[in-house]
Amino acid sequence: MQKYVYIETLGCQMNKSDTERILGMLSNLGYDAVDNEKDADLLIINTCNIRQLSADKAYSQLGYWGKLKKNKPSLKIGMCGCVAQQDKELVRRRAPYVDFVFGTLNIPALPDIIKKVEDGEQVIAIEKNPILRDEEDGRIIRAKSLNAWIPIIDGCDYFCTYCVVPYVRGRQRSRNWEQIIKEAKDAAKQGFKEITLLGQTVDSYGRDQSNPDINLANLLKELSQIDEILRIRFLTSYPTDISDDLIDTVASIEKVSECFHIPMQSGSDEVLKNMKRRYTRAEYLDICKKIRDRVENVTITSDFIVGFPGETQEQFEETLSVIDEAQLDYSNTAAYSPRRQTPAATWKDRFISNDVKKERLRILNDKVKASSKISNEKYIGKTLEVLVEEHDAKNKEGIMTGRTRNNKVIHFAGSLDMVGTLVNVKMNEALDWCLKGEIVN
Ligand code: SAH
Ligand code: SF4
Ligand code: F3S
Repeated sequence: MQKYVYIETLGCQMNKSDTERILGMLSNLGYDAVDNEKDADLLIINTCNIRQLSADKAYSQLGYWGKLKKNKPSLKIGMCGCVAQQDKELVRRRAPYVDFVFGTLNIPALPDIIKKVEDGEQVIAIEKNPILRDEEDGRIIRAKSLNAWIPIIDGCDYFCTYCVVPYVRGRQRSRNWEQIIKEAKDAAKQGFKEITLLGQTVDSYGRDQSNPDINLANLLKELSQIDEILRIRFLTSYPTDISDDLIDTVASIEKVSECFHIPMQSGSDEVLKNMKRRYTRAEYLDICKKIRDRVENVTITSDFIVGFPGETQEQFEETLSVIDEAQLDYSNTAAYSPRRQTPAATWKDRFISNDVKKERLRILNDKVKASSKISNEKYIGKTLEVLVEEHDAKNKEGIMTGRTRNNKVIHFAGSLDMVGTLVNVKMNEALDWCLKGEIVN
């Protein structure tokens, strides 16, 4: 009998990539993916724990699913991802109707877990030590049709004082080089045109291995040999792990896209120190300058947190000013959210009130919007290479959406048969978050 699974995925690309692998494993067990939870026999929520809001979202979704189960007792409900890894047994108390919980380090064990669940067992599978990804059976059901995500590092070793990731994803493990190349070649064979290499500190790839030639720059060079792949991206970069060789590789290897995502988190040295980030404002600015000097038309994007414990108004303003000084093209923003197990969560006497955090976030978001528009305006009149992705969902028929090499979203008149091809687009109009243009030859 055909069985159906619905997976709700919260969080970053790493989680989305995990979902693709989970769907692959489940398809080997006879489950087809459906996009409506009402049609499913199995519901799984892949959770994100980065802020309280994301963790709360997971539990409220589970609450809704619990109600569905009351009307359909055969329904099986599972929880995985970064909340599952930290909450373990707690899930059973908060959502007792959940049939199985598995951690980020347990994905390879999923087939065994599902068999037990199908036999009526309740399973809580949370490992401390990772079961290596490379032991997975390899089937991946990818969400996108042009871009394939390929994780190259799991976990993180940095332990920034606000961040839950090292506690829920474990220590840094670089994936096996050959396995990555094989996965990229498989994606190319299946028609993918772009690959995005993923890691929390993607630029430290290979540091946990003995061979110094195993590094991101060399991996990019090797992957660029795959004919069918037109573009290669990588994220997220840790500022001080960006080597000169990596910058030169981005500058010189045609297929490697000219964009760096380099979260800075704060423009204030004092806050950076308290966050245990390993660079100063001046060092971050130097890295940006070095990249801009060497890589033409490069995009540099960032992440910032406002309202970190003890952050003063002046320190917050240093974050605003660094956006201009570094000429950042775009930034993700968030208000600080205390996370269990992390040092900063215990600094309660220095917590910033919600009202102040909200106001700082609003001001920062306005700044980011302005910086994004300034960045887009730089390209008016220029012609850029665009990979055509899809019909523009919001606009009328005949308007296509694509991305430039440096990750700008572009809308232009075109047709569906262009999807997956490269076209040259002249930029005519800059909006806040994207550009409009026309195809030229
Ligand atoms: N590895 C990346 C970031 C991963 S988490 C890096 O080192 O920068 C993604 C983003 O979530 C972070 O860049 C940070 O801006 C935000 N974030 C992480 N923990 C947070 C917290 N406790 N509160 C608010 N935002 C947080
Ligand atoms: Fe979190 Fe810091 Fe690791 Fe990024 S580098 S995942 S912010 S601990
Ligand atoms: Fe969230 Fe886990 Fe990613 S906490 S941001 S899904 S690594």
